[in-house]
Amino acid sequence: MSMTIDLTDTEPMPEIKHESLINISSWFGKTPLINASGCLCATNKMLDELKTGDPAGICTKSCTLEPRPGNPEPRYWEHEEGMMTLNSMGLPNLGVDYYLDYFKTRDNEYDGWRCMSLAVLGPMEDTYQMLAKIIRPGVPVDAIEFNLSCPNLEGKEILAYDKPALKKILADLEAECQFLIARAHAKAYESDIDANGSYTPPQFGIKLPPYWQLQDYREIAKMINPMMFSFIHTINSVPNALVIDADREETVIHPKQGFGGLGGEIIKPIALANVRGFYLAFQELGHPWKKIKIIGCGGVSHGQDVFEMILAGADAVSVGSQLMIEGAGCIARINEELIEILRRKGYHSLDEFRGRLKVCAAATN
Ligand code: DHB
Repeated sequence: MSMTIDLTDTEPMPEIKHESLINISSWFGKTPLINASGCLCATNKMLDELKTGDPAGICTKSCTLEPRPGNPEPRYWEHEEGMMTLNSMGLPNLGVDYYLDYFKTRDNEYDGWRCMSLAVLGPMEDTYQMLAKIIRPGVPVDAIEFNLSCPNLEGKEILAYDKPALKKILADLEAECQFLIARAHAKAYESDIDANGSYTPPQFGIKLPPYWQLQDYREIAKMINPMMFSFIHTINSVPNALVIDADREETVIHPKQGFGGLGGEIIKPIALANVRGFYLAFQELGHPWKKIKIIGCGGVSHGQDVFEMILAGADAVSVGSQLMIEGAGCIARINEELIEILRRKGYHSLDEFRGRLKVCAAATN
């Protein structure tokens, strides 16, 4: 017996939106985007506003044990067409307790990745005290980023440029974190704070300055690869740049003789080089017990910039200057632009093209 189906009688097929087949999730959330520490993240109000843009994660301003006022004004400058920013903030922040309190009490509903940036500027005892507040059962912090690359401290050089000192500091940080993690495990077991009496430590990462030589990527990657760090965030602002107001014949910012960290679209090629350089260096080394993730940062203001970062090898991407220029709304716009690029190119996820940058073959004649 044959059966005919009257198609005129059936419900119309729901339209399948192509976008719904595109997955732009990253290892820490539903999109690859987070803010770069320092941008829209210094106060509760800024962090609340940042979240309205729906980033997959939020990162606090790099904080210190005690609050700091930072450098004298004017300390931030923006190009009128948005192509660059210059800052010499000098780590103004409200202190570690303020940001911890934000995560503990003010953002209970947030389902994204919570990252705390800790400024490492010495003494190390201060950093250890901050870690001791965070590495505890029940503290809702998913990641700790050590900022080893602040360019704006009067009389201090960028720590991450001194490789022997960097190696020692990273080893000390690792030892301290491991001690605190062991303590947190024991505390969780005793008090059964988590339902199963266990403790999940945060992920640890490092914010790096731009490096300039290919050998630097290899040396730093080799140093970090066997350690506990699970991500690097590259690059911080390009240090000690100078912008001059020719009419007034003066610098545009005041501290440190006008030298400051350069950000914005103009630094993207340097950022891409660092992402690519570290991606290749880690690949060359192989992954001993985990793969170190790369968060690409620098000059990201459009979906295409995110696409390029991922093509170069980034696992996730952060937005810095553009958040200052445009506000939190840029996150959703950049995500939409990224989805549109994937749709146009026929990709369904970021994994399909991550790291697959081709090198143009040299012409033979
Ligand atoms: C500051 C600037 C940075 O580029 C950074 O990574 C951390 C702090 C600052 O001057 O506050």
